[in-house]
Amino acid sequence: MAEISFIKLPEVPLEMHKVRIVQKLSLLPLEERVKKNKESGNNAHWLKNEDVFIDMLTDSGVNAMSDRQLSAMMLADDAYAGSASYYKLEKIVCEIFGMKHFVPAHQGRACEHLLCEVLLKPGQYVPMNHHFTTARAHILKSKGKVEEFLYDEGWQAQSDLPFKGDVDVEKLRDFILKKGRDKIAFVRMEAGTNLIGGQPVSLESFRKVSKLCREFDIKYVLDASLLADNIYFNKTREKECQNMEIKEIISLICKQFDIIYFSGRKLACARGGGMCFLSEEDYLKFRDLTPLYEGFLTYGGMSIREVEAMAVGMEETLDFDMISQGPIFIAEMTRILTEQGVPMVTPAGGLGVHIDCTKFLPNVPPNQYPAGALHSALYLAAGIRGTERGTLSEDRDKNGNEVIAKMELLRLALPRRVFTLSQLHFAADRIIWLYENRDLIGGLQFTDEPKVLRFFFGKLEPIGDWQKKLVKKFRKDFGDSL
Ligand SMILES: Cc1ncc(COP(=O)(O)O)c(C=O)c1O
Repeated sequence: MAEISFIKLPEVPLEMHKVRIVQKLSLLPLEERVKKNKESGNNAHWLKNEDVFIDMLTDSGVNAMSDRQLSAMMLADDAYAGSASYYKLEKIVCEIFGMKHFVPAHQGRACEHLLCEVLLKPGQYVPMNHHFTTARAHILKSKGKVEEFLYDEGWQAQSDLPFKGDVDVEKLRDFILKKGRDKIAFVRMEAGTNLIGGQPVSLESFRKVSKLCREFDIKYVLDASLLADNIYFNKTREKECQNMEIKEIISLICKQFDIIYFSGRKLACARGGGMCFLSEEDYLKFRDLTPLYEGFLTYGGMSIREVEAMAVGMEETLDFDMISQGPIFIAEMTRILTEQGVPMVTPAGGLGVHIDCTKFLPNVPPNQYPAGALHSALYLAAGIRGTERGTLSEDRDKNGNEVIAKMELLRLALPRRVFTLSQLHFAADRIIWLYENRDLIGGLQFTDEPKVLRFFFGKLEPIGDWQKKLVKKFRKDFGDSL
């Protein structure tokens, strides 16, 4: 955000936009929240949006759009083949990423599907800094294996490491040498590493891994879905980038890669996605599959209106005011909560605030899903929905055993330019109340457990009557207040 000082009052994050379209919200009474929570099986994905006061489930497809994006949607050139809107998008994406070829896809996971189909043979590994749920699910479905190479500190919830998404290159090199180059399908780097708290990757680390991939002639693939957040942190935390334009940082990162894919739902504040390629040979392999899975090349499963919005959204990622709003609000909410003793992922990252539930609920064992439990408690206390990012987000292994996540987080996403500071204060206030009453919160168990990506559709119930006790305490402390 622009350098603007406050003289008389304490500084707070200052929005560099104004709100011109609004959506009415309501906070259901406590009794209703209890009912809706039970009906949803303690799973935010089953809640209806109308039953939620502050929707912090995700930043995906729910970022605020700009007036320029909305007006571009009116100009959409609807056509099955050869739409002008598509060529606009292709041009801007290739320009920003410095790539030669573009293939659209209906969203990020569609790119992951294509990547696995084209580049992965059964039994091969995909080394990466850290997995994302859909990326890993596609790799496993194609009978590949995921290996992660963060430094140990990357998995520590509290740390001073500015770039927790960085890769331990020596460990990665040893792995490639041990397994043999042919066992590696491609190396995947995720910018703004989602599941460890939206933590960034340094330009230095992007480069080091690139060098290694060149040495072994391994394809180097960037998941750029959270690149905008990452760039903010490169500029504010990495000396080399401090005086660079956003465009220059993006270019220095992207030129390391053979293939770049992204979820436009996150990166471009529009619902879609796409992939870019340096080599024509790679491009043609992916292009030819597009009509089979996504739709014709010039819309890729997206509405043409979204294609227009995505083109403008991509352009707007070059605006520092735009890309700094999320991280600055996240840092502010993290600061407020940390000051009150709530265990948070630090340093604050992109995409959302992340509560360290291992420390918040030390008495709830991981196989009773502390982050899922805290999530349902927060819905009861505040009508807020977030996302469990811990053991519940893992699937069981092939023997049916729980896979205990390395980090047990409750993520409260801050979709870009959507929530006001007062809404964040309300959320923080209820979280602090929950922290003070954490002894009342117990675990959850499945009543209905899907085999793949169980966090989406699974249903759970509280173990024992802790939710009743929590509700009773809420009534005592809050009286008639919602
Ligand atoms: C880092 C990352 N990669 C890929 C995806 C998948 O993108 P989509 O939701 O558009 O399928 C996401 C979505 O949350 C993500 O955060």
